[in-house]
Amino acid sequence: MCANSCGVHGNGVSQVILALVLTLFDSVHGDGRHWEQAPLGSRPHSVTITEFGAVGDGKTLNTLPFQNAVFYVRSFADKGGAQLYVPKGRWLTGSFNLTSHLTLFLEEEAVIIATKDSSQWPIAEPLPSYGQGLDLPGPRHRSLINGYNLSDVVITGNNGVIDGQGSIWWDWFHSHELNHSRPHLVEFLHSEEIVISNLTFLDSPAWSIHPVYCSNVKVHNVTIKTSLDAPLTDGIVPDSCSNMSIEDSNISVSHDAISLKSGWDKYGISFGRPVSDIHISRVDLQASSGAALAFGSEMSGGISDIHANHIRIRSSSKGISFRTSPGRGGYIEEVVVADVEMNGVHVAIEFTGNWSSHPDDHFDPSDLPVIDQITLKNMEGTNISFAGVLSGIDGDPFTAICLSNLNFSIANLAPSTSWFCSDISGYSESVFPEPCSQLHKPSTNSSICFSLSSYSALAVA
Ligand SMILES: *[C@@H]1O[C@H](CO)[C@@H](O)[C@H](O)[C@H]1NC(C)=O
Ligand SMILES: *[C@@H]1O[C@H](CO)[C@@H](O)[C@H](O)[C@H]1NC(C)=O
Ligand SMILES: *[C@@H]1O[C@H](CO)[C@@H](O)[C@H](O)[C@H]1NC(C)=O
Ligand SMILES: *[C@@H]1O[C@H](CO)[C@@H](O)[C@H](O)[C@H]1NC(C)=O
Ligand SMILES: *[C@@H]1O[C@H](CO)[C@@H](O)[C@H](O)[C@H]1NC(C)=O
Ligand SMILES: *[C@@H]1O[C@H](CO)[C@@H](O)[C@H](O)[C@H]1NC(C)=O
Ligand SMILES: *[C@@H]1O[C@H](CO)[C@@H](O)[C@H](O)[C@H]1NC(C)=O
Ligand SMILES: *[C@@H]1O[C@H](CO)[C@@H](O)[C@H](O)[C@H]1NC(C)=O
Ligand SMILES: *[C@@H]1O[C@H](CO)[C@@H](O)[C@H](O)[C@H]1NC(C)=O
Ligand SMILES: *[C@@H]1O[C@H](CO)[C@@H](O)[C@H](O)[C@H]1NC(C)=O
Ligand SMILES: *[C@@H]1O[C@H](CO)[C@@H](O)[C@H](O)[C@H]1NC(C)=O
Repeated sequence: MCANSCGVHGNGVSQVILALVLTLFDSVHGDGRHWEQAPLGSRPHSVTITEFGAVGDGKTLNTLPFQNAVFYVRSFADKGGAQLYVPKGRWLTGSFNLTSHLTLFLEEEAVIIATKDSSQWPIAEPLPSYGQGLDLPGPRHRSLINGYNLSDVVITGNNGVIDGQGSIWWDWFHSHELNHSRPHLVEFLHSEEIVISNLTFLDSPAWSIHPVYCSNVKVHNVTIKTSLDAPLTDGIVPDSCSNMSIEDSNISVSHDAISLKSGWDKYGISFGRPVSDIHISRVDLQASSGAALAFGSEMSGGISDIHANHIRIRSSSKGISFRTSPGRGGYIEEVVVADVEMNGVHVAIEFTGNWSSHPDDHFDPSDLPVIDQITLKNMEGTNISFAGVLSGIDGDPFTAICLSNLNFSIANLAPSTSWFCSDISGYSESVFPEPCSQLHKPSTNSSICFSLSSYSALAVA
């Protein structure tokens, strides 16, 4: 009944009529109370998804009710906005857009379920800073929940769930049946004042939360899980955003749990939008085949001013990973990661200058990245296979890489084989096992480091 053409453009007239009818109704019930009792939260008005014909039986497709509800909420933009309340139930839907001054609230045992019908996931142009989709060249599927050019949006609840039913997309990925790059669960573009909190995100087709070209974003108290053998599912990907925080969250995915990005090769260089001023705190991360906390590899717009602390990492392939490649350009600098506990991690710290995925063959290998001023401090690891594999780029060494107060218990291997370093320089103090000589030259001291007041000096004092 509703193919991928339905929505604001396809059904403009009926939506205007619906909005008028509902506005009349709302003026009768002037205080914003409606058919079902929904808590008002911080918005002066509230509507419930059932008012728009949604059925929470897990079978009825509710794409149009979600689109109509959001369209209706637009009429509250200059009245403090409105809450869209999703009660207990299983609400199957395709992709829909949000609007400004909206709170999407999922009640306890409310589950928004993504349809497995790929025709309900419209196609959009690739991001300008990437030039291509990530799975395939060309356009990509829109995400389940999208925000374009919005401000003041909250997605929250009483631990409701957003379930991407991603396994069908993972099968299409493996069997090369995808026509376009896979969709994410939640994506915001060019938006500001965004809060995502108190929810669980399950089995995204690709990434779970992807803000791009955004500012003032807060992700708080979310749980994100995907099957640990899914292909390349990331948790939260702050992408060319500034002023974002990620706190009190628990992420367990197949690829990177948190990955900071800013565009791909010449597309990212010319778009030129860094990811900066990002704060990550009190997170519990698992990345079965990727890194718990990753920087890049798409970093062509630059990555800087990143503060991450109080991080638990368990059963992961890589702990903290910095990735780039000739052709990326850009920079990763002014990063401090502190107070980390790891258990069951293959490589605790990774720097790699040869992450060779490229959007196309037009990259210029002389676009060399700058990796400088990165401090990793106060870490304890048990059951670690390799403490650090640190490889810069030949002719473009990574500099001021500083390690302080690290203690890794290496499983199964002699500690003397636990660090590998090339094309890298920096400083270290109180690191066990003893790191490679590039990081403890007698001629360097902690003054080259970002955000490091010497641990040894403190210990002596
Ligand atoms: C969602 O927003 C995009 C960008 O404005 C637009 O192209 C698309 O038609 C919208 N979809 C719906 C269903 O309104
Ligand atoms: C959103 O804003 C960007 C940058 O200002 C602009 O290029 C784009 O056309 C806008 N998109 C929509 C859907 O309004
Ligand atoms: C996290 O969210 C759950 C509901 O999803 C709530 O019960 C809990 O109190 C929240 N915790 C914090 C610290 O906000
Ligand atoms: C790919 O496109 C073909 C032809 O339109 C269609 O039959 C198939 O369902 C599409 N596959 C996916 C995964 O969307
Ligand atoms: C998350 O839940 C906690 C505990 O119920 C509540 O204090 C907080 O305000 C909620 N956050 C949002 C953004 O609703
Ligand atoms: C950063 O974002 C938060 C909201 O998440 C906001 O309160 C704060 O003012 C912003 N800081 C700056 C410097 O814009
Ligand atoms: C995160 O989830 C895992 C597995 O569900 C659990 O063992 C761990 O205690 C959780 N961490 C926090 C901080 O809630
Ligand atoms: C060490 O970590 C590996 C990988 O996570 C895990 O398979 C193994 O069981 C762990 N060993 C111990 C003794 O905890
Ligand atoms: C790239 O780096 C990895 C270690 O990070 C190493 O195993 C591999 O041989 C390198 N490849 C090239 C082409 O230098
Ligand atoms: C490293 O931690 C272990 C416990 O995991 C402890 O026994 C050892 O003394 C610590 N080593 C240093 C140099 O702090
Ligand atoms: C550290 O190095 C800087 C620059 O090389 C030098 O000015 C400073 O005196 C040194 N500090 C110590 C404590 O050696």
